Amino acid sequence: MIAIAPATESDIPFIMRTERLPGYEAFIGCSDEAQHRARMANGRCAHFIAWDGERPVGFAILRDWNAADGITLLMRIAMAEPNAGYGKAFLRALTDKVFSQTPCYRFWLGQFPDNARARHVYEAVGFTAEGIARGNVFLNGRHHDELILAILRPEWEARRDPSPRHGRV
Ligand SMILES: CC(C)(COP(=O)(O)OP(=O)(O)OC[C@H]1O[C@@H](n2cnc3c(N)ncnc32)[C@H](O)[C@@H]1OP(=O)(O)O)[C@@H](O)C(=O)NCCC(=O)NCCS
Repeated sequence: MIAIAPATESDIPFIMRTERLPGYEAFIGCSDEAQHRARMANGRCAHFIAWDGERPVGFAILRDWNAADGITLLMRIAMAEPNAGYGKAFLRALTDKVFSQTPCYRFWLGQFPDNARARHVYEAVGFTAEGIARGNVFLNGRHHDELILAILRPEWEARRDPSPRHGRV
């Protein structure tokens, strides 16, 4: 079982350690302390920590939280201990939070196309792969393709309420 809570500046060292775990540079970008502090203060982003009891096990940064146009980006997510079942539970809780606490209509993200583990987790939670945005990320000196995935509010509602009006009978 995990709990999720908003991150504070005291969580920045954990976030920075996690985004720098060996191998993660192939999947996510990372930020320095000043960038994290600025993002936490800018009012546009929401930061969350996943907790297993007293232990932080992952973080996520959502951009355009509570946005007027209802479009929110999962900008970064990483777990301190991958493959332990935390990531799927965390993503599910985040998705419930964004749709239940904000007027979000589209919750979306871009991932590197070869990140099969992440794609598996996103699709398990209800995200749909929409296609490749070519050269959409500039990282480590070059442009990379991104696979775009999203879940829309009606899809989230249908997953919560599997009654016939939402689909199969
Ligand atoms: C992606 C990430 C957030 C997922 O969190 P996690 O805690 O590892 O995920 P879970 O343990 O809950 O679930 C992993 C699932 O992926 C599956 N999986 C593991 N490796 C896989 C692979 N190479 N290909 C496909 N599926 C894979 C597991 O079997 C499991 O699925 P199941 O529960 O249906 O059996 C985490 O692995 C992570 O931080 N990765 C590095 C950073 C990253 O890639 N972030 C996302 C950028 S878009």
